[in-house]
Amino acid sequence: MGKFRVRGGRKLGGNIRVIGAKNAILPILAAVILTRKPVVLYDFPHLADVENMLLILQSIGCRIQRENSTLYIDPSQINSWVIPDRYVKEIRSSIVMLGAVLARMKKAVITYPGGCEIGQRPINLHLQGLRQLGVIITESHGYLECEATNMVGADIHLDYPSVGATENIMLAATCAKGQTVIRNAAKEPEITDLQNFINSMGGKVTGAGSNTIIIEGVDSFNETEYTVIPDRIVAGTYLIAAAITGSEIVVENVIMEHIQAVVNKLREAGCIITPYKGIGVDKIKIKAPDRLRAIENTKTYPYPGFPTDMQALFMSALTVSKGTSIITENIFENRFKHVPELIRMGARIRTEGKIAVIQGVPRLKGAEVSAGDLRGGAALIMAGLNAEGETIIDNIRHIRRGYDKLDEYLRSIGADIERIDHN
Ligand code: EPZ
Repeated sequence: MGKFRVRGGRKLGGNIRVIGAKNAILPILAAVILTRKPVVLYDFPHLADVENMLLILQSIGCRIQRENSTLYIDPSQINSWVIPDRYVKEIRSSIVMLGAVLARMKKAVITYPGGCEIGQRPINLHLQGLRQLGVIITESHGYLECEATNMVGADIHLDYPSVGATENIMLAATCAKGQTVIRNAAKEPEITDLQNFINSMGGKVTGAGSNTIIIEGVDSFNETEYTVIPDRIVAGTYLIAAAITGSEIVVENVIMEHIQAVVNKLREAGCIITPYKGIGVDKIKIKAPDRLRAIENTKTYPYPGFPTDMQALFMSALTVSKGTSIITENIFENRFKHVPELIRMGARIRTEGKIAVIQGVPRLKGAEVSAGDLRGGAALIMAGLNAEGETIIDNIRHIRRGYDKLDEYLRSIGADIERIDHN
């Protein structure tokens, strides 16, 4: 299953660069099949979830070449509308292929994506929106069989600002007749990146980043070259690495606005965070105190609120802060799997439903722990950076879904972390 060994207590230092965002590149890879012309994507992250998405694209006829972090994709020969089960089961975010395949092929067959480690992950809002566009969806024997020969723009209101539902509806609506309005849309930066990518190919999408997105259907798309936005959760992870070890580092290739909620909380905890404005992207210097202050209340919310993907990572930092903190996880119903593992390392945490109460201790102790999901696994590495002695983190395949060579990047700023058995 692959393990990391972390020896804690070292101060970190130096500069570390953030790669392209997993949650931006995944829907953008789906959007690639809207065009028949060549697409070039820069700064793509080497992640298990991205590799899986590339396999899906190849399985329906895309030709893909890669050179370091540049992808050359030829989507001219798409010849299938059936998205293979094995890939959908591997990553549930492949459900976003549905809207793109419907736009390109006017039909699609996809297996019902299961839940995952952090929750049941329903797709009712996806299906509701697609049906409002005129997609005929038959659910039988665990498959969704979809017909979209006559998609017509619609005025769609999402009960909840779901990221995936917003993306799926946006993708399908690019080829619906007339105008589609998505109300109560998700406002995450990855939605804006998807809009900008679609428009770079000749699409007509406006409003992303607000709660109302307008999509004008078009008949065809052009070729494009595009660089995805930096990964705000990876940026936040590096900030937490500095915060939990009382270090000073510089994080490069960050869009400050995208991680403002995390920066505010780290400042409240006693970190000095200085942004250096760049052209389009920024650098951030963080100088953490020897021991963080506790944070009375942190609640996860849709963007621009505190991101659920940073909850586990932030909790790790709070386990060694001065005082008592409360974290409320409002987005996913099963996103505290890291709590028992942190307790094994000496953390003092009590959970009740979606609330966790963390009583800070001076320092954690190394232990053998196991990653239960992507961000929870990364949180255990953060805890290991602080802990006395050795921490062994098992099941690191979860971590490799969302982090590109995290151990190498952390070693480059002085962390003592290595993989101790490969597979
Ligand atoms: C995206 O998941 C991200 N994944 C998640 O990141 C992220 O945690 C999440 O958005 C929230 O920001 C990708 O972008 C690939 P949602 P998604 O639909 O689209 C409920 C990571 O670690 N819901 O906004 O699945 C759902 O149950 C991953 O990188 C419905 O009820 O998130 C959840 O409670 C984890 N019905 C809430 O909405 C639906 O049809 C948020 O889900 C859809 C969602």
